[in-house]
Amino acid sequence: MSKRAKVTIVGAGMTGGAMAQVLAEKNICDVVLKDEPDIVETMHHGKALDSSQSAAWAGFESQIIPTDGWEETAGSEVVVFTAGAPRTPGQSREELLNTNAGIMRNMVGPAAKQSPDAVLIIFANPMDVMCHVALETSKFPGERVIGQGGMLDSSRYRTFVSREIGVSIRDVHGYVLGGHTDTTMVPVVSNTMVGGMPLTSLLAQDKIDALVARTMKGGAEVLGLMKKGSAFQAPAVATMEMVEAIILDQGRLFPCSNYLQGEYGIQDVFCGTIAKLGAGGVQQRFEVPLTDDEQEKVKGAADVTKELVGLLE
Ligand code: 2OP
Repeated sequence: MSKRAKVTIVGAGMTGGAMAQVLAEKNICDVVLKDEPDIVETMHHGKALDSSQSAAWAGFESQIIPTDGWEETAGSEVVVFTAGAPRTPGQSREELLNTNAGIMRNMVGPAAKQSPDAVLIIFANPMDVMCHVALETSKFPGERVIGQGGMLDSSRYRTFVSREIGVSIRDVHGYVLGGHTDTTMVPVVSNTMVGGMPLTSLLAQDKIDALVARTMKGGAEVLGLMKKGSAFQAPAVATMEMVEAIILDQGRLFPCSNYLQGEYGIQDVFCGTIAKLGAGGVQQRFEVPLTDDEQEKVKGAADVTKELVGLLE
């Protein structure tokens, strides 16, 4: 293996496979693609080989290494967990609770043992609850367990806002906090800026409400269209942006699920906020100014997560 940083992606389904490709193209680390041969047989080997064969034209030196065991993952700087059952149409992320908690425990234990200094990024659903499972299983400090939800949800929100107004998505700055569920996401409208102008000055309230509603059901909309699996391209790009921020110690300010310590009056619960991501994971957490209504919704999201954590078997 090279001297490049190593990142492990656990789970080589649609999302894990897409993540490996996106990350390799960044050319900042080697990528280990770990899966269980009794579940996917040789699929992860096939995906790793396929992605490796894109290097000539995509222009990267990153190695993509498939593995059935955990030894190859040793010394990873970041481990991303995608393993778990995806939603089926009509199913909520919460319904996956105990199935995916079991899978998470089986994966996080050995991953943490092989990479005791790693940052863990959680993708499996219900994501905020799975962060708690990862925290407990790994016994890592809160700064090294992060959930990706807000990254994806904010990216969906910005897509809808930019399309509605007809401007570049790069000039839409808006964040989705709260939880990564259809009912607990909190698109922070009061702080959404488009080219330096408040969104509320550019769109009528009913239009904004529709964008918010579509954002909150953004995953379900894709699922309903694809029928046989959840979204994976936007999730992969969003999550690999976090990996890059950590590997390159960028200090990016990203919306993601964090183990809150008093922010918004929430203690010891994973919930979305803005975090500074760099070497070692979360370097700082920020409390975004919210309206009373938004603040209440964020607290409500944390309450729901806490309740679901209580249902873990
Ligand atoms: C989504 O929102 C899979 O939770 C993911 O699409």
